[in-house]
Amino acid sequence: MHRLICRISLLTAMFLLGAAVSCATAAIKVGNLKCEYTENPLGIEAAHPRLSWALTSAERAQAQTAYQILVASSEEKLKAGGGDLWDSGKVASDQSIQVPYQGKALDSRQRCYWKVRVWDKQGDVSGYSEAAHWEMGLLSPDDWQARWIGYTAGWNGRALYFRYDITLPKPVRDGRAYVAGLGYYEFHVNGARVGDRVLDPGWTDYSKRVLYSTYDVGAMLRTGENVLGVIVGNGWYARPQLLLQFEVTYQDGTQGHFYTHGGEADGRTWKVTSGPIVANSIYDGETYDARWEKPGWDLPGTKLLEPADRNEGWVGSAHPSASPGGRMVSQLTDPIKNTKTLQAKSVSEPKPGVFVYDVGQELSGWAELRLKGERGTRVTLRFAENLAPDGTVDQQNLRKAAATDTYILKGGEEETWEPRFTYHGFRYIQVEGFPGHPDFGSIRVKFVRSAVPSNGSFASSNELMNRIYKMVWWTEASNQHSVPTDCPQRDERMGWLNDLTVRTEEAFYNFHVGRFFTKFLNDIADTQAEDGSITDTAPYVWGYRPADPVDASYLLLGWFLYQHYADTQAMADHFDGFKAWTDCLAGFRKGGIVTYGHWGDWSPPAAFSLPGSNGSSAVSKTTPIPLMSTGYLYYCARLVSQMAEVLGRADDQAKYAALAESTAAAFNRNFWDEITGAYGNNDESANSFALFLGLVPEKQVPRVVDNLVKNIAAANGHLTTGNLCTKYLLEALATHGHADVAYQIVTQKTYPSWGYMLDHGATTLWERWEELKGSGMNSHDHPMMGSVGAWFYKYPGGINTDPRAPGFKRIIIRPYPMGDLTWVRAEYTSMYGPIRSAWRKEGNSFRLSASVPVNTTATVYIPASDASRVREGGNPATKAAGVSWLRNEDGDVVLEVGSGDYEFSAE
Ligand code: BGC
Repeated sequence: MHRLICRISLLTAMFLLGAAVSCATAAIKVGNLKCEYTENPLGIEAAHPRLSWALTSAERAQAQTAYQILVASSEEKLKAGGGDLWDSGKVASDQSIQVPYQGKALDSRQRCYWKVRVWDKQGDVSGYSEAAHWEMGLLSPDDWQARWIGYTAGWNGRALYFRYDITLPKPVRDGRAYVAGLGYYEFHVNGARVGDRVLDPGWTDYSKRVLYSTYDVGAMLRTGENVLGVIVGNGWYARPQLLLQFEVTYQDGTQGHFYTHGGEADGRTWKVTSGPIVANSIYDGETYDARWEKPGWDLPGTKLLEPADRNEGWVGSAHPSASPGGRMVSQLTDPIKNTKTLQAKSVSEPKPGVFVYDVGQELSGWAELRLKGERGTRVTLRFAENLAPDGTVDQQNLRKAAATDTYILKGGEEETWEPRFTYHGFRYIQVEGFPGHPDFGSIRVKFVRSAVPSNGSFASSNELMNRIYKMVWWTEASNQHSVPTDCPQRDERMGWLNDLTVRTEEAFYNFHVGRFFTKFLNDIADTQAEDGSITDTAPYVWGYRPADPVDASYLLLGWFLYQHYADTQAMADHFDGFKAWTDCLAGFRKGGIVTYGHWGDWSPPAAFSLPGSNGSSAVSKTTPIPLMSTGYLYYCARLVSQMAEVLGRADDQAKYAALAESTAAAFNRNFWDEITGAYGNNDESANSFALFLGLVPEKQVPRVVDNLVKNIAAANGHLTTGNLCTKYLLEALATHGHADVAYQIVTQKTYPSWGYMLDHGATTLWERWEELKGSGMNSHDHPMMGSVGAWFYKYPGGINTDPRAPGFKRIIIRPYPMGDLTWVRAEYTSMYGPIRSAWRKEGNSFRLSASVPVNTTATVYIPASDASRVREGGNPATKAAGVSWLRNEDGDVVLEVGSGDYEFSAE
């Protein structure tokens, strides 16, 4: 009826207006518009930016059958219904994510306004979405008129303060600043900080690429005198340098341009001086002497002094300095921010005048200090993960990182300070030299990290699992610092690719890492040499070239971007690199086996690893390196072949499938033991790795599974695996009928286990299964043991993407009830919207609430003997709206459902 009325009124409207007016009748709404994973981004550089939207509907089984996108060069044009840059017309398609812009070629700085409408399953059209926009960055090297300025000899270690005075003769309509300050910078306009980014830009190999940020500063400008101020610290560069391009559009449409460089035609120059940040280092901390503050340094009208003591005034022109060499690339990854402010849980005074704050949670960031005292008083903050027996902080395991901030008071009123160019990984803060007695309010803790959005949740009837889930979340979150770091505290903080091989999927479930990992893929690609080799860390500082063959994370990032977000761009961009790395590995084969490797299944329980100096080695003594290395060559070859299939590259598909096949054969020839029915030395790692990779010939699978279960029994129901095979162990068990054994391992409390870590006070994952504290290798915030984070979603939670339609276009909801679990609630936010799987066992009945986003479908597995026993909303499930029965399978009823919220029950 509603539709009929609408159609009638449409005819009337067309008649009255004599124009084509569309009428929104669809049961579907469009929202959540994103361009390149981002809401209204600035600085887009893709020629065909990818557009995504999400749909909602009160009706079940709703889906998009067509869309129309309008892109206009102004808001007014878009409002008037025109798409002067692109009118896609009605496109018959169910694609609602990653739709490439296909309009007119876009120029640097161009702003594009867009909206979209869709047709639903009945063919009815929705209303247009709200308008969104994106803006292009500086696309060509020629757009950069600015030149690097900076480093002043003799000021090593200090942050530099840059100032530029500008006169804007007439009212301003718009202003953009394109800024890169290496290592890190903070940008001010007319005395106010611009934006909320900290520790910007993200770390890259600056000789290959430097990330610039784009700021909309129009509203901060005024007619007349304006000041740009930038503080630049050492960061990962240790030689402060600045590149800034400032572009103003006046209300009359004319433009003004201002750049960093050595000298200006009008005689104005960028001034530089040092200031209160007298020392700054990522690892060691920051020292701030507030007596050296220059009030008004970033305000118009301040008199610029040129005194003899250059520390007191402005030295004069900043010098031009050599470019770091890399090309300028827009920073589209999630910027680092203060994502949360916390209060410590307790304060103690283990020695007179020494105060120790316990945050109750390990995290990455710093502390803000609030205090009042005499000028020149020096207060130090020491950050640590552990306490010594006497209750003071124990920093031994930070190795060479001093992790100490120092504040020197200027005196007078209450002072508030936080550092700018360092960060720490810590749970405890030791305050010394505090004037008087600090209280809770004297310290506020900032949780600083790449502001990657959290993307899921998990809870169950097992409280220990819930605590492990949270421990993994905090560990992952505190190690997202523009690169996925191994740890946030000691003198390392590197993007280790071996750890990432198993960390990747956990990060994809817990966070929306589309932008974060797109950036990191480029970081890895930047390490790649002519011979195809990549390095163990990216940017490359630690480890080897060629990297350990276990560093399949390079390919896995491309693969999971596709699996989770249907992103084919990353895969296409890096396909040649993926092939080159796989070929490089294949080049090391002897008789089909890759013999080299450095880490293998790194860091198993101490009894299973080779002794190293000062607790610093953790190579497995039971799982052979060649077994791991060859397994990963197989994995990489298979991934390349699968990607080639997606990208339509038939030759590569065949070539790498053949490489995978011959490598599988070599693996089995060398590592399969026909007598024992096991791999390698018949340990948990080797057996589960072979099962996970699907390398075990079908008829031998039961023998290997049987051996794996025996391996675990021999270890008293514990794991003996390192960072990598812990993932494969839990997956292999769940998918081969032993979810209960996996559950037993996950919920252990005795060593080695996650429960053991928690019982010993861990709030983030340790690097070793042992509880270690001394000066050796024992970070207490190390994500590599956290692959169980993905396992929670995939098995107890049962949320998976269907490889036949990645990006969760088709979803598999298949919970594995296991052990004594009575309920689980898991949620994952896909690009289509939230997916939920919440189940509960009550007596003999099993209930499952499932949410399936609009424009997706799900295959749902419900434990029941046949479909007649399954109900939905109290009625027979097979008759429920949106549900169709597929089959009975191994004790499960398998249903196909459209979008909507469902309440299933099975007796
Ligand atoms: C890192 C680890 C890494 C290992 C070997 C350590 O220093 O912290 O995360 O796996 O080196 O690659």
